[in-house]
Amino acid sequence: MPKLHVKSYGCQMNVYDSNRMTDLLTRDAAYVETGDPGDADLIILNTCHIREKAAEKIYSELGRIRGLKRDAERAGRRLVVAVAGCVAQAEGEEIIRRAPLVDIVVGPQNYHRLPALLDEAARGAKVVDTEFPLEDKFDHLAPPDAAAIQARGVAAFVTVQEGCDKFCTFCVVPYTRGAEVSRPVVAILAEVEHLASAGVREITLIGQNVNAYHGETTNGGQATLGQLLRRLAEVPGVMRLRYTTSHPRDVDQDLVAAHRDLAVLMPQLHLPVQSGSDRVLAAMNRRHTRSEYLETIARLRAARPDIAFTSDFIVGFPGETEEDFCETLRLVDEVGYADAFSFKYSPRPGTPAADRGDQVAEQVKSDRLARLQACIDRHQRDFNRSCIGRELDVLLEKPGRISGQLVGRSPYLQAVHVMAPTSLIGQIATVRITGAGSNSLSGALHASPKVPEQALAGAGD
Ligand code: SAH
Ligand code: SF4
Ligand code: F3S
Repeated sequence: MPKLHVKSYGCQMNVYDSNRMTDLLTRDAAYVETGDPGDADLIILNTCHIREKAAEKIYSELGRIRGLKRDAERAGRRLVVAVAGCVAQAEGEEIIRRAPLVDIVVGPQNYHRLPALLDEAARGAKVVDTEFPLEDKFDHLAPPDAAAIQARGVAAFVTVQEGCDKFCTFCVVPYTRGAEVSRPVVAILAEVEHLASAGVREITLIGQNVNAYHGETTNGGQATLGQLLRRLAEVPGVMRLRYTTSHPRDVDQDLVAAHRDLAVLMPQLHLPVQSGSDRVLAAMNRRHTRSEYLETIARLRAARPDIAFTSDFIVGFPGETEEDFCETLRLVDEVGYADAFSFKYSPRPGTPAADRGDQVAEQVKSDRLARLQACIDRHQRDFNRSCIGRELDVLLEKPGRISGQLVGRSPYLQAVHVMAPTSLIGQIATVRITGAGSNSLSGALHASPKVPEQALAGAGD
């Protein structure tokens, strides 16, 4: 049976899409999965175009695959190479010009057509499919049959929305993922019910702009993300809900109320701000000011006082001054993030900011990035330390590096290491936190109403 190897880069959406491509191609035993690219008959690289480094990584990976393709040919086998994801969408047939070993280029909206594209490639054709479909606008978001989706572990992503209409001036996503579309509520519900019955306990709803969700309901209306979360909170077996990535402009009253009312909605929110300077926010076309962002944070904290915030930042956006950057540092101090990602601005072809004449020098970007990261790290350490002595609910996900240890996630998304038997994987246990590093917590199993007595008796084993 032919073997398939899928490698994912970039965001959670790509992880989700890679799994769906695998589900589609392994259905009816057309392919079997292999972890070893050297053994594969089909390699799919699911790529990311967000920053220059991410896109260039693909060409070095293709360089390595060239050798594998030659080895396969010498052994009388054909290795088919497909490039999927956002580089595929952005660069199209240019990829085959630059790397002629590539057989298929397929954009994120066209994965459901993969079996047909593979047939064409088997006949020796080079195939490029990056059209945005005009009809069937939901078909590419997930296979129509929820039951075909494999559960992989106790936590899973579910795409609810794709694309973005915001057009931040630095960002490729509106071009690579197209206009915003939302999946209908019934399709999401079917997928979540199926995953829950297969043992998944935590669902993270994903979308490039997830809180712009506006999916069809069965009575012809539209549901907001807050309403969707309320519906999903009732699915038996679902113990935790999360969603990412949100835009600060789209945090509406429904969503705030969901954080107030739903115990299964975890008290952690990734709310990227990018900059603390109003001047830079305007130039980025973020459509909100610093004070509007802080008001949103305050509304969410009023609804759910222990909510932890994480964010994304860009330093060295064209025209960013030292004063602008200091506003960003002050914002980090003001919000007190539990964690954050920060990036040097990377000019992306075709985006408005890339053409600006006031690009910031590389050395200045590096210096600002280091200062911002030091500031974020300080807050992350403080937040982690503030958990010492607390009892946190931890969803135990998988074995840790040390024998007898499990790793799970706190409600605030921190990794937590705890000695516990593997029989507790998939359970939410109460853990008394005894240690805090910069990236994770450690603790001891305390007690849990959600864990059977006999399982706890073996906890010290
Ligand atoms: N939909 C998400 C962003 C997805 S991209 C949102 O609206 O926040 C993830 C992060 O990559 C962004 O939040 C931003 O911080 C960063 N990013 C996007 N384009 C970038 C660029 N051109 N250079 C550097 N970082 C970038
Ligand atoms: Fe990109 Fe802005 Fe859309 Fe996020 S909101 S995906 S940063 S354009
Ligand atoms: Fe990258 Fe595309 Fe995601 S550019 S971050 S893979 S939406």
